[in-house]
Amino acid sequence: MRITILPGDGVGPEVTREAVKVLTEIAIILDLEIEFDEQLIGGAAIRATGSPLPEETRAACVASDAVLLGAVGSPEFDELLPEQRPEIGLLQLRQLLGGFANLRPAKAFPALKGSSPLRDEVFEGTDLLIVRELLGGLYFGQPRGIDETEAFNTMRYSVSEIERVARIAFESARGRKGKITSVDKANVLETSRLWRQVVTRVARDYPGVELEHMFVDACAMHLVTNPKRFDVILTENLFGDILSDEAAVLTGSLGMLGSATIGGQVDLYEPVHGSAPDIAGKNIANPLGAIASAAMLLRHTAENATAADAVEKAIERVLGDGYRTADIASPGAEITSTSEIGDLVCVHAVEFANTRYAFHAV
Ligand code: IPM
Ligand code: MN
Repeated sequence: MRITILPGDGVGPEVTREAVKVLTEIAIILDLEIEFDEQLIGGAAIRATGSPLPEETRAACVASDAVLLGAVGSPEFDELLPEQRPEIGLLQLRQLLGGFANLRPAKAFPALKGSSPLRDEVFEGTDLLIVRELLGGLYFGQPRGIDETEAFNTMRYSVSEIERVARIAFESARGRKGKITSVDKANVLETSRLWRQVVTRVARDYPGVELEHMFVDACAMHLVTNPKRFDVILTENLFGDILSDEAAVLTGSLGMLGSATIGGQVDLYEPVHGSAPDIAGKNIANPLGAIASAAMLLRHTAENATAADAVEKAIERVLGDGYRTADIASPGAEITSTSEIGDLVCVHAVEFANTRYAFHAV
């Protein structure tokens, strides 16, 4: 398996390093052949080459089985036009790889009870998956523009764009609790009315899955008052961007969650968090979102459930043992560094993989 590693900006390099460490260790134990190829993206790429997604990076990504990305974005480029900023590198990469369904699971780890902004009884038992459409809507709609007096973007969705992401959501729900909440703003937007029609039609092909529709403002409210009521949330690009930050932080920290972008030519894995320039380079960022993304890679692209389970169980074990980066530590508690957390996950992942492996060998 060939994996292109794109560390990117801010905390990207340090969290990605830990994810690669875990992948490397698990590959040795389970005898997987993984070849890593590190490339530039975002601000780091602009500094080195002038482009946020250089040709060499593009070529490496399309030739690989999966791409693992850290984060992009840096205050240094805040004054640039949107089309020149580091973020455009990520948007172009998403387009290039073609993955239209971004899966963002948000699960409340029992060990993180105290870290969530929610009361324990609201937090407990939260286990949801956001399926965010990733290649349409306001992010890519044409025309768009800005001058001295006005600016505009276009929200546009075709039937086929809605249908293909809806199918992924329904497939995902079948393997979970079998419930989909399709989120839109159909009381105001035409794109949302079409969204509702198409999703309702797709639902007929999945009789075992229950479908409800919800307005995005209500969804934002239910997420903080009763997140347990959700299983799979299916929504368009910008709504999904906003709701996934909200869902992530209520499970403990934005730093905890990974994501997978599927459906295209090459799968893309990235933590939900951003580049967090304020804490970059200090070895204090939470690497668990990047490591959780690596686990998703092992499950979806490598199709190796043993490896993925081992990494996910290792994450739970490290949290259960009380190790915390600053973002999830209670006030006054001892803080563990980015690289130490990575080492601990490696130790337990190897241990879990070994047990499973030994069991199968017998
Ligand atoms: C995310 C990020 C990106 C997005 C940015 C960096 C372009 O916020 O992955 O959620 O808006 O999709
Ligand atoms: Mn976001």
